[in-house]
Amino acid sequence: MAGMRDVRNIVILTGAGISAESGIDTFRTAGGLWEKYDPAEVASAEAFARDPGRLLSFYDMRRATVGEKEPNPAHEALGRLDAEWKGELLIVTQNVDNLHELGGANRVLHMHGQHRTAWCTSCDARPHWTGTFADRPPCPACGMRSLRPDVVLFGEMPYHLDRIYPAIRAADLFVSIGTSGAVYPAAGFVRDARELGVRTLELNLEPSDGSHWFDETRLGPASEIVPQWVKEMLG
Ligand code: APR
Repeated sequence: MAGMRDVRNIVILTGAGISAESGIDTFRTAGGLWEKYDPAEVASAEAFARDPGRLLSFYDMRRATVGEKEPNPAHEALGRLDAEWKGELLIVTQNVDNLHELGGANRVLHMHGQHRTAWCTSCDARPHWTGTFADRPPCPACGMRSLRPDVVLFGEMPYHLDRIYPAIRAADLFVSIGTSGAVYPAAGFVRDARELGVRTLELNLEPSDGSHWFDETRLGPASEIVPQWVKEMLG
């Protein structure tokens, strides 16, 4: 991509596609999670109000499958970039797994929350959590049985937008990796970047809903094209 040499500040958006080769289901590609479950029934604020037990059991199952997965070369390449990049770098992930961190990245924001923490709706504590939720365990901080997954449900406000938008405004390059561009506000970041004159690059297995907004789209499995791009950036 032309002019990569004068890039200082980078914002990277990642989606389920970066974790696909680690064995974690995507949502909308063939065989994805939303082909098996209706997100309105198991992943929305309305479903949580209507049938909390069913939603909590779904997340217990999700955590059990995501739990022991390993980072793949794409996560590890971003970990290297994070460690060696001299300018600003922010990885905004839509994923609730912790594979970016296991791959060595530190400058990570989980805009849809994460499996590793619980959220107590009584005292607002967010304890590290490896247990289940459907059995309504007591909050370690206040003892109330009001723990829920610290995951942003459909209909709820994503986290960290107050840090994400300023980072996009200050960026020279916006990179989107492994996301279908189907869910807002994440899907709109590329447009915001482009309207601000930020260069935009998409790394994906197949073109996404927003591919036309990108200056460049590279297609291939993340475990191959992400390390390739990181090598270009680190010279
Ligand atoms: N390498 C790179 N990209 C891949 C790979 C791979 N090996 N496998 C799949 N992909 C791409 C697909 O082409 C698709 O563009 O990953 C994307 C997966 O899209 P989705 O399943 O829609 O996942 P995502 O974009 O992260 O969904 C966004 O929707 O359901 C909500 O909260 C959930 O965070 C999620 C959000």
